[in-house]
Amino acid sequence: MITPEHLKWPAGADCTAVPYAVFQDQEIYDLEQEKIYNGKTWNFLAAGAEIPEKGDYKTTYIGDTPVVVTRGQDGEIHAWVNRCAHRGAEICRERHGKSEDGLFTCVYHQWAYDATGDLRGVPFLRGLAGKGGMPRDFDKKRHGLRKIRTVNYSGAIFGTFSADTPDIESYMGEDVRASFKRILNRPIEILGTTRQYLAGNWKFYAENVRDPYHASLLHLFHATFGLYRSSQKGGCVDNNKLNSVLWASGATEDEAALDDMKKDKLRTLQTDQYELKDRSLLAGKKEFDDDISLVILSLFPSLVLQQIQNTLAFRQILPKGRDRFELVWTYFGYQDDSEELRNIRLKQLNLIGPGGLISMEDGEVTEICQNATVRDGKYLNVLQMAGREVKGDDHLVTEGLIRSLWQGYREIMDF
Ligand code: FES
Ligand SMILES: [Fe+2]
Repeated sequence: MITPEHLKWPAGADCTAVPYAVFQDQEIYDLEQEKIYNGKTWNFLAAGAEIPEKGDYKTTYIGDTPVVVTRGQDGEIHAWVNRCAHRGAEICRERHGKSEDGLFTCVYHQWAYDATGDLRGVPFLRGLAGKGGMPRDFDKKRHGLRKIRTVNYSGAIFGTFSADTPDIESYMGEDVRASFKRILNRPIEILGTTRQYLAGNWKFYAENVRDPYHASLLHLFHATFGLYRSSQKGGCVDNNKLNSVLWASGATEDEAALDDMKKDKLRTLQTDQYELKDRSLLAGKKEFDDDISLVILSLFPSLVLQQIQNTLAFRQILPKGRDRFELVWTYFGYQDDSEELRNIRLKQLNLIGPGGLISMEDGEVTEICQNATVRDGKYLNVLQMAGREVKGDDHLVTEGLIRSLWQGYREIMDF
């Protein structure tokens, strides 16, 4: 493929300066669908607990390609593109469902497929009263659905279009894998789902979840009620450039850091006017063997796995065009949760999701960034917090992970 001149990364701009065109350009968006989503990446499709029984299915997307993930009669997970092999109609039209007979039938001409995506039935295959019908040499085996390679890793199902995508553990990298398994350490129970539609490019969100710099500044609730401060213990690490973990622990902060924050007159320290009428929202329960109270794990391109206090969630990032994306939140706990812990999780869900007290601003910033850069594709952003290196850090005042993201992105996109 020939890369058009205007899609070249500007000379002199490295991973500390990103041209806004990457958030705005239709050709770049189309190239991403080809190189990232149809390329060598693992994409989150579902939690296994969302389709626990034979015949269960869920419709979702890899990039903007509709896919269906199923549990077959053999109990195994399968996935295929949600596009009828006949004339292209969407086969499954509900978000979740169960096929009682194990078949998935297209509404248009009723071609029927099994859970693995193989074609099982074609109406009027041999015609009607001697008339019509498919040619004698029509072979159902050659007209199945476009199949997707899947893996069920610790109860999370991922799919890839490429046979060359490395195994999921190598793809994640060591630190990301360890952090992933720390949360997905035993069978989970789904608590619910919310979805939100955002008028911004999906990569503004990919930056946001790798950005500890903003967390105490943008999110007033965080700082006001002591859930997160930039001065608390924490850090971040990248694996294979694109995947990362950002964590913070509940330990107390040091005085020098607090003094610096006061000198900067941070809006988030001027919090006297706010109070919570019911502080039980903040009453959590220690449930891991460490002091970590916040984990934002990003598995490029589509998954964020989070622990914030006692809330656990998958966030799935689904691009819907160059200037919009959908964010699907799937909240969970563990199957062996006590009623008390489940109630804590349910109450704390007020913190996250589309209207969450500490997450609604993240959606909003993707939109204000998109709006402000519409005509300024050739201008560059600034990513120099904590230096110019592409790496994680042992503190929370850094844009190192975002530089890693862009370096990995450029390698995949060949920019
Ligand atoms: S398009 Fe699906 S059966 Fe014709
Ligand atoms: Fe945030």
